[in-house]
This record gives sequence, structure tokens and C-alpha cells, in this order.
Amino acid sequence: MSHPAAADPRELRHALGRFATGVTVITTLDAAGRPVGLTANSFAAVSLDPPLVSWSLATRARSLAAFLATGRFAIHILDATQEALSQRFAAPVEDRFAGLDWETGIGGAPLLRDCLARLECSTHQAIAAGDHVLFLGAVQRFHYQEGAPLVFFASRYGLPAPDRLAA
Ligand SMILES: Cc1cc2nc3c(=O)[nH]c(=O)nc-3n(C[C@H](O)[C@H](O)[C@H](O)COP(=O)(O)O)c2cc1C
Repeated sequence: MSHPAAADPRELRHALGRFATGVTVITTLDAAGRPVGLTANSFAAVSLDPPLVSWSLATRARSLAAFLATGRFAIHILDATQEALSQRFAAPVEDRFAGLDWETGIGGAPLLRDCLARLECSTHQAIAAGDHVLFLGAVQRFHYQEGAPLVFFASRYGLPAPDRLAA
């Protein structure tokens, strides 16, 4: 069944969720110097030369002011063992960094350890895009290691079993 996109945001969300993604945690510092961050799967590679990446942040997100003000962020691509970390950074908890081991990166952005890859960025552009702000990041430093990715598909972690894929 086809749906007019404007009429049915819930169905549109289901359609967009058919695009399997990895999962990232994106971090920065707020005006008081406190670490903030959130789980995001809108991350995409954009350009190699110059090195640019993108992601989008809901305008209602508590962290929007911090990301707009600092002009820096660190993107952490999570591995398959980090579902709990993804849940923590998507949940409405006061301090998502409590008890976590993190260090300070370029420009102060908090860096988490043991992820599949990490990209330290400066904000190249922040573009108003409907109910989100699209951030383009210029990658300044990166790190990666071997491992399996955390996958998100149809509002769940992991991929459906192969028999469901064939249905
Ligand atoms: C797998 C997953 C992917 C998400 N991707 C995004 C995203 O790309 N952009 C976004 O704004 N929120 C995304 N969210 C929701 C935010 O993580 C969530 O709303 C968070 O509480 C926002 O934090 P804040 O309000 O403290 O800024 C995602 C959540 C999950 C579980």
C-alpha cells in the first residue's frame, strides 16, 4: 500500500526504518563544560576530500543548544557489544556519562573508549532541515578498530532472522 508522505508520519517512520543502519553516540560539551551526548543513527559519510560527515539532530533535543554553541563534536560508531550504551544515550537520564570512562578530545569533546570507530569533528555547517538540524562535520582526527557493528533496523537492534528476510 502506498501512502502520501505528508499525511502519515508514523507510516513514513516505518518506511524509513527499512534502511538498516549502524548506531553512533555523538558527544560535545555544554556551556558549563559538562559532557553531553546522544544516540544517533542519522550518521552518513559525505565527502573524502575534504573529509565531511553528516548527522541530524531533532530541534526538540535537549542537547541542540550545546551542539550549536561548541561547533565541535565526536562521533562514536558502536560495536555489537554496545547496545546498552546506545540505550543509555537515548534515555532521558540526567548524566549519561555517570560511571563511564571518557577522555577529552580536540576542543574538549568527550571521547568514549572501545568503539568501532571515532571521528573528531568541527562543525562545517549546521543547516535547518524541518524538525531537525543537519550537521555537516569536518573530520579532524579519527580512529578505528576491527569488530562487528551494532545494527539498527525497523526500530530494533540487530537484523531479522534470514527466514523473515525472505518473507
Ligand atoms: C537507534 C537510535 C537512533 C537515534 N537517532 C537519532 C538521530 O539521528 N537524531 C536524533 O535527533 N535523535 C535520534 N535518536 C533519539 C535520541 O537519541 C533521543 O531522543 C535522545 O534522548 C536525545 O537526547 P537529548 O534530548 O538529551 O539531546 C535515536 C535513538 C535511537 C535509539
